[in-house]
Amino acid sequence: MNERQSNLLHNRRVEFPFALFYATFMTYAACENASNGAFMIMPPYKTKMVEPIRILTKKERIVKIRRAGYNLFFLKSEDVTIDLLTDSGTGAMSEHQWAALMEGDESYAGSTSFFRLKKAVADILGFRLVIPTHQGRGAEAAFNKAVLKKGDIVTGNSPFDTTRAHIEHVGATIVDATCKEAFSFKNTSAFKGNVDIKKLERTLKQCGDTVAYVLLTMTCNSMGGQPISLANIKDVARLCTAYKRPLYYDIARFAENAFFIQEREKKYRTWSVHAIVREMMKHADGALMSAKKDAIVNMGGFIALRSAELYGRISPYSILNEGFLHYGGMSGRDMEALAVGLHEGTEEKYLRHRVGQTAYLAESLHRMNVPVIRPAGGHAVYVNAGLMLPHIPWNNFPAQALAIAVYIEGGIRGVEIGSIMEGRDPNTRESRRAHTELLRLAIPRRVYSQEHLDHVIETFRAVAHHKKRISGVRFRHEAPILRHFSSTFRLA
Ligand SMILES: Cc1ncc(COP(=O)(O)O)c(C=O)c1O
Repeated sequence: MNERQSNLLHNRRVEFPFALFYATFMTYAACENASNGAFMIMPPYKTKMVEPIRILTKKERIVKIRRAGYNLFFLKSEDVTIDLLTDSGTGAMSEHQWAALMEGDESYAGSTSFFRLKKAVADILGFRLVIPTHQGRGAEAAFNKAVLKKGDIVTGNSPFDTTRAHIEHVGATIVDATCKEAFSFKNTSAFKGNVDIKKLERTLKQCGDTVAYVLLTMTCNSMGGQPISLANIKDVARLCTAYKRPLYYDIARFAENAFFIQEREKKYRTWSVHAIVREMMKHADGALMSAKKDAIVNMGGFIALRSAELYGRISPYSILNEGFLHYGGMSGRDMEALAVGLHEGTEEKYLRHRVGQTAYLAESLHRMNVPVIRPAGGHAVYVNAGLMLPHIPWNNFPAQALAIAVYIEGGIRGVEIGSIMEGRDPNTRESRRAHTELLRLAIPRRVYSQEHLDHVIETFRAVAHHKKRISGVRFRHEAPILRHFSSTFRLA
């Protein structure tokens, strides 16, 4: 052994106990602070493969966004530095998921991969029956065609847009019973995804059997990714039993919701996330899953059920559009990755880091006086563009103006959740004004590091500095439906 090697060994012997103490202390401190955004904890994974990011100059980005008609959906992803358009299907799969792909059984019927998925759903969620679908909206289409008819009512907390569209497509109506705290920007309640129990009971009492089912979306994407508490879930379930109405869940982000319950609901602080998930699920008759979120796959979904009768009723609709019941729009390898992802997406260390990332971004922006929804939800940070850019009237779309400014400044792509997305009233054809003009920054799973988030924070610092100079936008071409996707704009 030479002198250097000996020194290294010696040093390591001396330093190791300190390193161990330091690591233990930091992990403990980080756990304490993970979701209040005080600082970021270490991700429980490391990088094996990298995807280069092309970084354009500001001048180049001005040209790109102008060519895209000031609609960020028309930007090429290679022209985006940090893509926060969505957390759906944009996560990074693990080495175990990639390895599982190799075991995909592509048989049309009786695929081994389907039975692995079925077992994972039973193990994690406790549902015995599974109908795979190509993604969440495939599940929504088959399910709602089977269980709803014209004139029916669906109530619960706010459903996601595609869910709403499928319910309305069959002629049913939604009665939104989200708690009032969710509509207050200043309110910082821990569970702004909760249902207003009094409003729910009123609807159940007044509408009787017209209420086809109660739907809980967890977390509630339309309300800033805010969670629903287990106490509230149990109250809803109690009413469903009392009024003999079925209860279903949209579980796109059930694991993030379970983590919030562990963190914020005193009674469940010592429970494991797995136990909380089972406790949440046991009250539901079934669940619809867009697996592109908490199961960390790029494509996939399913319907999970308890009743064989209902399974039989939904199956023909699924076969018609999705495919046979043992693959439903997914290949065997997709089902393998999904089965592994269901386990990985419910790991506590992963969830602590994931939720911590969102909180870190939200709290850092808040400290810079950028108005954001607080506490942060699980998957995204929502900036109140109406408050940040008060000089831009709502019909010049402040959130779109902010999205453009943030892209030009730092190459960051977010999405407007405001009056553009609200569209026009189908009867009067008047543009509807959104309750709040929001810019959503959704964080893909296991993709970006703290440095990337720090770039987002610094970009907002620069944008805030010249915010008075940001101008609104007007339509150049207004698309007749879902206008946020394909309209183009000019600067106002
Ligand atoms: C809560 C929720 N439900 C359903 C969906 C629809 O899922 P998919 O995009 O897989 O069709 C989404 C998509 O973002 C969602 O957020």
